[in-house]
Amino acid sequence: WDQQFLAPPLKISDPVRAQKIAVRLQGLQVNGAVLRKTAAVFAAELEAGLQERPSSLQMENTYVPELPDGTEQGVFLALDLGGTNFRVLLLELEAGRLVREDVKQYHISDELRLGPGVDLFNFLADCVQDFVITEGLEKEEMPLGFTFSFPMKLHNISSGELITWTKSFNCAGMAGVDVAALLQTRLRERGLKVTVQVLLNDTTGTLVAGAQLNPDVGIGVILGTGSNGCYMEKASRVTHWETEHERVSDVVVDVEWGAFGDNGCLDYLRTEYDDEVDARSLLATSFTFEKYIGGKYLGDLLSSALRRLARDELFPAAPERLHLLTAHLSLFEEENEAGGTARTLAVLQEVCGAEGAGARWSRDDALIAQHVARLISNRAAQLVAVCISTLIQRMDREHVAVAVDGSVYKRHPRLKGLLQKYIQLLAPDHSFSLMSAEDGSGKGSALTAAIAARIAHRS
Ligand code: GLC
Repeated sequence: WDQQFLAPPLKISDPVRAQKIAVRLQGLQVNGAVLRKTAAVFAAELEAGLQERPSSLQMENTYVPELPDGTEQGVFLALDLGGTNFRVLLLELEAGRLVREDVKQYHISDELRLGPGVDLFNFLADCVQDFVITEGLEKEEMPLGFTFSFPMKLHNISSGELITWTKSFNCAGMAGVDVAALLQTRLRERGLKVTVQVLLNDTTGTLVAGAQLNPDVGIGVILGTGSNGCYMEKASRVTHWETEHERVSDVVVDVEWGAFGDNGCLDYLRTEYDDEVDARSLLATSFTFEKYIGGKYLGDLLSSALRRLARDELFPAAPERLHLLTAHLSLFEEENEAGGTARTLAVLQEVCGAEGAGARWSRDDALIAQHVARLISNRAAQLVAVCISTLIQRMDREHVAVAVDGSVYKRHPRLKGLLQKYIQLLAPDHSFSLMSAEDGSGKGSALTAAIAARIAHRS
């Protein structure tokens, strides 16, 4: 059982070189026993987070108490902020189904992502204004769902404060600011009659959008630039409430597993490559777990491990910093599956700059790069599987469907299969399925706004 988690050994023409590489990269191979231990640590952190005891998991109550029931109706605006692009959407629902979707993407420059928060929110409001003018809806009263994919302290379904930035954002003056209220003010200043009705995380959007397709969905996962998950928890197990909740039986809880390990509880997993990626990241010493699995970091991990091999003269040249992307890692994996090496070699020559151009490359070198990509992908899949399998076991249902979205999940050729395999190994007595919830953060935002309207109407 233990060994079934290990990635296949490197097979190259020089066995001595293969052996040296295996020793050098040993830290990236995580066996079943270590994963079991990690699952136990995760379960303990979940429990502590829910009870508001010290934990690296924020375990945020989202105040979303219900999933779609097929009655969701109306026209909604949705904002989706979290990656490098910002999207504004117009979504129309009829009997829970999406019947219209107009989308416009806006690029967020480095200055906005790293400048004062007020500038960012002015820009967001400008984009909404531009969008409604394009749609001819500038005079309309409309509800808006704001998908804000960062850790928040939520007060109710429509308000919450940013705790800290992650991924590639770091705007000054925003910690503790109610992002929904700030957006609302900026929209009103522009004369727009748009009301921010829900504030949610992209994982919540994914869970809600997934549940609209399949009522067995109880977990929402994002595997994209960052990584995180949320799940349906019994309301009685959630300690933190800022609203009346006597009649609430379940509620979506945002785990914020990106920060898992920030308190040192996962230090036994850390390799020198993780240290290097962390040290060079925008927000060093935070979001430990996300740096093992997020698309923002996988390419950099690959680069760091290959640089190390080059320093040890086990690889012909060192990739230049930040030149290897997660898309390259996916490409290496794809070519490895197909049994080729030509595209991998072309990428390596390019990303190793002058050193790469002067080096003599062989088929073995491509196989080594593909092997490192495999180890990094394998570890990412294992760690996400630890989280998902722990949640599945916690939910105590006959079958749990897991809705997943995000660029890494969509584009990585092996990830889905690896996740399936590892969750099965870690939760052998549970029935589960993984399903893709395309554009959960956009669509889920409108569905959640409709759920909020339904609940408000009822009370
Ligand atoms: C980061 C954010 C989290 C989000 C995830 C995926 O981990 O903190 O809120 O869900 O990225 O976008």
